[in-house]
Amino acid sequence: MSTYLEMNAAITTQRLIEMKRKGEKISMLTAYDYSMATIIDAAGIDVVLVGDSASNVMAGNTTTIPVTLEQIIYHAQSVRKAVKRALLCVDMPFGSYQINADEAMRSAIRIMKETGADAVKLEGGAAIKESVGRMVAAGIPVMGHLGLTPQSVHQFGGFAVRAKETAEAQQLADDAHLLENLGCFAIVLEKIPAELSRKVAGELTIPLIGIGAGPYVDGQVLVGQDMLGINKEFSPKFLRRYAALYDVIKEAVEHYVLDVKNGDFPNEKESYSITK
Ligand code: KIV
Repeated sequence: MSTYLEMNAAITTQRLIEMKRKGEKISMLTAYDYSMATIIDAAGIDVVLVGDSASNVMAGNTTTIPVTLEQIIYHAQSVRKAVKRALLCVDMPFGSYQINADEAMRSAIRIMKETGADAVKLEGGAAIKESVGRMVAAGIPVMGHLGLTPQSVHQFGGFAVRAKETAEAQQLADDAHLLENLGCFAIVLEKIPAELSRKVAGELTIPLIGIGAGPYVDGQVLVGQDMLGINKEFSPKFLRRYAALYDVIKEAVEHYVLDVKNGDFPNEKESYSITK
């Protein structure tokens, strides 16, 4: 059990690694705006991710591919103002790091300077090793992302579970070791068999944070809007909904519409007058 003081200490990359060492689970959620990030941070989350899932959740796209570096920076600037305790990690969007390591460095530096992020996250293993190595050498904390890497959805042909076959599982384990050796402070593992994430988590000293990767990892991440039930269409097996906000918000809006139509809103107390 954490003490009051520990709970209010800012979460650092070193603290996350220590949490893994002590067997303390890490909680992580996405946020893209000031209001939501304020609530999530106040609730004691360890890591807030400005995910490129902003493309789906905020902009209504079917993949994460369209979101731009400018859009991610805009979201991250809003979230930064809200997050006081958690570690703030910002996703590098598709196209901002794939061209070469120089471009990757430029994008990561922009994110760090323009948003005040504590870390960046990017997808892939061996293919991005030069970029990751240079970022770490420049003092930029890097979170990796392996398994179902949504920026490669067109190559995968969909969002199915990854690394079920031996060769892909071995490649994932090799990539995880490579990212740890390059200096990543954590890795997200998305939609892979629980047995595989358990094996890799046991081999690494940096935390592995799962989404659809089973319980045997060092922490869990979900998209905030999904776990709050704002979104009704997205129902993967790994998602647990902790609220039904779609219904709560819809009912509130229906009530407001009715009150306006009936002339019940605003009432006298909710109106200004010359005298008071
Ligand atoms: O963008 C995102 O929401 C993510 C999480 C699924 C880890 O990368």
